[in-house]
Amino acid sequence: MIRALLNIVELEEGYTVLDPFIGSGTTAVEAQLLGINCIGIDVSPLCVLQSKVKTESVDVLPQIEEWKEEIIKRARPSLFNLEGKTIDDVISSIPDEKVRNFYKMAKLVAISDNARRGKEFSTSFLKNLELMISSVSDYVEIAKKLNLKLGKMDIKVGDSRSLPLNNNSIDGIITSPPYSIALDYVLNDAHALKEMGYDLSEIREEFIGVRGKGQKRIDLYNEDIRKSLDEMFRVLKPKKYAVIVIGNATYMGQEVKTVEFIIDYAERIGFKLIKNIDKIIFGLYNIMQKENILIFQKEGQNE
Ligand SMILES: C[S@@+](CC[C@H](N)C(=O)[O-])C[C@H]1O[C@@H](n2cnc3c(N)ncnc32)[C@H](O)[C@@H]1O
Repeated sequence: MIRALLNIVELEEGYTVLDPFIGSGTTAVEAQLLGINCIGIDVSPLCVLQSKVKTESVDVLPQIEEWKEEIIKRARPSLFNLEGKTIDDVISSIPDEKVRNFYKMAKLVAISDNARRGKEFSTSFLKNLELMISSVSDYVEIAKKLNLKLGKMDIKVGDSRSLPLNNNSIDGIITSPPYSIALDYVLNDAHALKEMGYDLSEIREEFIGVRGKGQKRIDLYNEDIRKSLDEMFRVLKPKKYAVIVIGNATYMGQEVKTVEFIIDYAERIGFKLIKNIDKIIFGLYNIMQKENILIFQKEGQNE
């Protein structure tokens, strides 16, 4: 879907797309494959790590493979003390940041598997590591076979309500903001965030859609979304497109009309709604049945 949207909004090799809620990096991966540069922002350091690993590991596959044996030795329960070093000691001693991030992520996946599904850490770690390495190898092989010129990635922790970007500097936006109060992203990733050393109640303050209760939560969400839309409008070049994938969630038995709210506010600040596409979603029936793909164009003169 993201690839189709990149095409629809006329983004081509060398252009820059922004996703101010990058999440697990779908926009980044699809842009990278098409040679489109991507700026990805997310308030969650876990999402940023995940998106970086998905798009940057391709640059360091040989180094990842060099470290594999040493890391596996520390992950397996052993009767022998291997110089007292833990898996964390080895990961933090890896000099290359991209390689270090790759192993950090592999470990966090296993920690999540353990906490959420009761899977044994080392079994899960070794299995995930193999899957991750083979996925990066496939990526490298395909990029080589198809002679792809991969887009440049710039993914970092930040806040969609105050983007570290210049006015009129972005060629297109494709994003999916938190769906009102549909999912508590902090709670969802609590184990991994804690393992990364973050204080959950502190980090919660910066997240959209998880603060307050009842009507207060919806009011705070709406205010944050307004600020995020203002920022998207500011950084986008005139005549360019912003695609927002969003749905109405059910909260405390009532449907929260986020889609209508976003269309209304976006049009008030100078976006024109070009298309509103309905998309059925599966698996979240109790809180959401469909989402909308909203394609806006920034009105105004070309530079
Ligand atoms: C619906 S998800 C994005 C999913 C993404 N499209 C993907 O492919 O995974 C919304 C994201 O918004 C992030 N978020 C919440 N508050 C934010 C804020 N103030 N600034 C930037 N990102 C925020 C969450 O961490 C979450 O990753």
